[in-house]
Amino acid sequence: MSDDLRWSPVGQASEFNDGQGRVVTVGARRIAVFRTGERFRALKDACPHAGVSLATGYLHEDTVVCPAHAWSFHLDDGRCTMGPASCKAATYAVRVVDGTVEIGVP
Ligand code: FES
Repeated sequence: MSDDLRWSPVGQASEFNDGQGRVVTVGARRIAVFRTGERFRALKDACPHAGVSLATGYLHEDTVVCPAHAWSFHLDDGRCTMGPASCKAATYAVRVVDGTVEIGVP
């Protein structure tokens, strides 16, 4: 992770349910944070197809499936794994420091 990021706390790790997305805000950004076991990953909370909240999608392995039209996006890098190959969801850096989840933005 780059040290050039500004890190913002968005909640305690224990507040994030395993296998679910949760919307957090950092400034004006709506961000979907996904917990899978002890891993946390984050995507912009707007599907690149038509803007539906990805936090409300369901997780399948390391992807989130958009609830609107079932395009899916890999949690690591936002690449589209079901839908147009050129489509990509924006990602954010996530870390956990002393039990607090933090999002890094440039
Ligand atoms: S809005 Fe997400 S697939 Fe259509």
